[in-house]
Amino acid sequence: MVKRAGGSLLLSIQINRDAQQPVSTQLCIALREIILTGGFLAGERLPASRTLARDLSLSRNTVIEVFDRLVAEGLLESRTGAGTFVSAALNQDRPKPEQSDAPPLVKTAPQLSGMMAQAVSRFGDRKRLPHVARAFTTALPAFDVFPMAQWARLSAKYLRSARDDILGYGDPDGLPQLRRALASHLRVNRGIACEAEQIFIVGGAQQAFHLIGSTLVNPGENVWFENPGAIGARNSLIACGANLVPVPVDGEGLRVDEALRLSPQFRLAFVTPSHQQPMGNVMSLERRFALLSAAEQAGAWVIEDDYDGEFYFTGRPPPALKSVDTNGRVIYVGTFSKSLFPALRLGYVLVPPTLVDTFGTIMSNFLSGVPSHTQAIVAEFIDEGFFSSHVRRMRLIYRERHDVLLACAQQRLAGMLDVKPTHITISRDALQRQISVSPISRYALAPVPFNGLVLGYAGVSPKLITAGVEVLAQVLEAHMSLAGKRKDSAK
Ligand SMILES: Cc1ncc(COP(=O)(O)O)c(C=O)c1O
Repeated sequence: MVKRAGGSLLLSIQINRDAQQPVSTQLCIALREIILTGGFLAGERLPASRTLARDLSLSRNTVIEVFDRLVAEGLLESRTGAGTFVSAALNQDRPKPEQSDAPPLVKTAPQLSGMMAQAVSRFGDRKRLPHVARAFTTALPAFDVFPMAQWARLSAKYLRSARDDILGYGDPDGLPQLRRALASHLRVNRGIACEAEQIFIVGGAQQAFHLIGSTLVNPGENVWFENPGAIGARNSLIACGANLVPVPVDGEGLRVDEALRLSPQFRLAFVTPSHQQPMGNVMSLERRFALLSAAEQAGAWVIEDDYDGEFYFTGRPPPALKSVDTNGRVIYVGTFSKSLFPALRLGYVLVPPTLVDTFGTIMSNFLSGVPSHTQAIVAEFIDEGFFSSHVRRMRLIYRERHDVLLACAQQRLAGMLDVKPTHITISRDALQRQISVSPISRYALAPVPFNGLVLGYAGVSPKLITAGVEVLAQVLEAHMSLAGKRKDSAK
């Protein structure tokens, strides 16, 4: 039986035999933690491997293997014939284990920069970016149809390449093969005349928004922002110190006339012309020209966030604003989070020729690019034609899911979605029943004159959509009946 000072800690080690992590790794992590937090004194002898193995119901070989690993790490020393000891180098200066009767640590708020302290208090709540799709999760593509086998094959092929080619620092602007593939994709599919040199590869659209904001906007300068609008982009620009001007949107997109009235001077405008986030409208051509002309006159830039321009249900894709940007005011941002998957953290910025040198300087001297191996796999995925066939397939699947949602909603929710209790209450109740619906107010920078719920469907199977509509109908019915009772008792 183990009896030393750290003995009780050793006996409290929990091994989970059903976990994916090997038993030896679990023991190694636990033992390392006990040693590093002072469960044993420097130079103290550990129990014999046979004893520890018996006490933890493990094989002796497992314990010996773990002792060997910790000897190799320098935490333990093995002395022939005498046993295994905690390394003498681990003297009293190492951290002590937390005592359960110790007074709780007093946490003082860290001193932030003035700009970040202000930003943190203005961020929109984005905590709920989901990992698993359920009805009606937004922002996730259909994982069930992702061509995993092709992806794994390209990935393995890449890792078999020459080490010198794959292990060093990559090109900070982005992998040339991917920049070329993207330029060709944008020319062919989005009607944008561009060269590969104008494209910079970044860690997702979020990083692009922050990069653009910190490069082009002085803290306190005005940025036109769609209201309601994209929460992540909003936060990226707030983090740069931008003063966001909430500009109303309607069925034609950003109200440029209102924007000019609210803030004729502006440094940047943020728009989602292909699919206004969250309302879904396509920006009209008239508004596009009005925006480009306002930007030209103010000497301002425009961010076009084309986050899901690949997905449309009528014959032709909504045009990119960048394709009619004759004066070079538009900075186009694309992402693979929708067309492939968000865990990639891969996006790109297409800048006008006048900004190419500036972005090149920033990428090479400061940001240093994003993982080469992800870029190489994506580049080959595009070049081999897998990307366009995947996107084409997803379009069909999304159309089907869109139609199922519309049909079910028309049948089951008609007349119920303007019930009186706030939509926030409804979304909270819906969440308790395992469905997630976002109130429009979550996307609002300033109050908007309408209510609504955003229902995502892309990552949700038709079966889950149908069941989700039923649950939502029940939640809405419960609210309506409660509101009815309140009305009766008020009479
Ligand atoms: C409006 C909008 N733009 C862009 C993105 C993609 O951002 P990222 O590329 O950082 O995943 C999202 C993700 O949900 C989004 O909602």
